[in-house]
Amino acid sequence: MTFTRQIKIAPSILAADFANFGAEIRAIEAQGADWVHVDVMDNHFVPNLTFGPAMCAAIRPHIKTVMDVHLMISPVDASLEAFAKAGADVLTAHAEAGPHLHRTLQTIRALGAKAGVALNPGTPLSAIAHVMDLVDLVCVMTVNPGFGGQSFIHSQVEKLRDLRAMIGDRPVHIEIDGGVDPSTAPLVAAAGADVLVAGSAAFRGGSVENPAPYGTNIAAIRAAAEQATGQVA
Ligand code: DX5
Ligand code: ZN
Repeated sequence: MTFTRQIKIAPSILAADFANFGAEIRAIEAQGADWVHVDVMDNHFVPNLTFGPAMCAAIRPHIKTVMDVHLMISPVDASLEAFAKAGADVLTAHAEAGPHLHRTLQTIRALGAKAGVALNPGTPLSAIAHVMDLVDLVCVMTVNPGFGGQSFIHSQVEKLRDLRAMIGDRPVHIEIDGGVDPSTAPLVAAAGADVLVAGSAAFRGGSVENPAPYGTNIAAIRAAAEQATGQVA
C-alpha cells in the first residue's frame, strides 16, 4: 500500500449478498472498487451482529485490492491478533471501544497491519490528539455505527476539516463512513477525506448476475468527489 491522497472508494460488503461474498467481492473490484470495507459488529458495541475472523479469512483470497476491516467491537484488544491473521491490511478500532487506545494502536502495528482509529459522531478529535504518531488512518463516522443505509450527519464535515488540519503532512488516510453517495461525497472530499466508504450507494441496483450498476455507482461517487477536490478522473 503506497500512501496517496487520491480519492479511493471502499464499498462496504455490509450491503452485499451475504450468501455470496466471494463473488460479490470479485464483482465490486472488477467494477472499480479501490478498497473493500468489512464491517465487523458484535451486538454489544453496536446494536447489530455481522461476522468474525473466520469469515474474514475466508473472503481474504477474493480481495485483490485492500482489505479494510472496521472493528465495531468492544473489548477489542483480545481480538486484534485473530483479525490480523485473517489478513486485514488495515485494522480500525474505535476510540470508544476501550480504555487503552494507545496500546490498541501499538498492537495493530506490531501485528503488521496499518492502524486505524474510528470516531463516533459524538466523539471529539481530542480523543486522538496524543496518538497521531501511531495511526495510519482516521475514520470519521458520519452515521452512528451499526447499520447501513442511514442518513449522513452533516455536523461531521466541520470535524473533518479540523482533522485535515490536525494531520498536516503526516501520511494518514482520512476515511469517511456512513451515508456517502454522490450528493455527500463532494462535501467530504472538499473537507479532506481520501477514503470514501459506501455501502448502499455502491451496491444499489446491482447483483453478481448484473454487476454493471456497481460500476456506475462507484464512478458517480468518484466523479462527484474528484470534482470537489479538483482532481481529474
Ligand atoms: C455503519 C458501517 C458502514 C456502513 C455504511 O455502521 O460502518 O460501513 O456499511 O453503509 P452506508 O454507506 O449505506 O451508510
Ligand atoms: Zn464501516
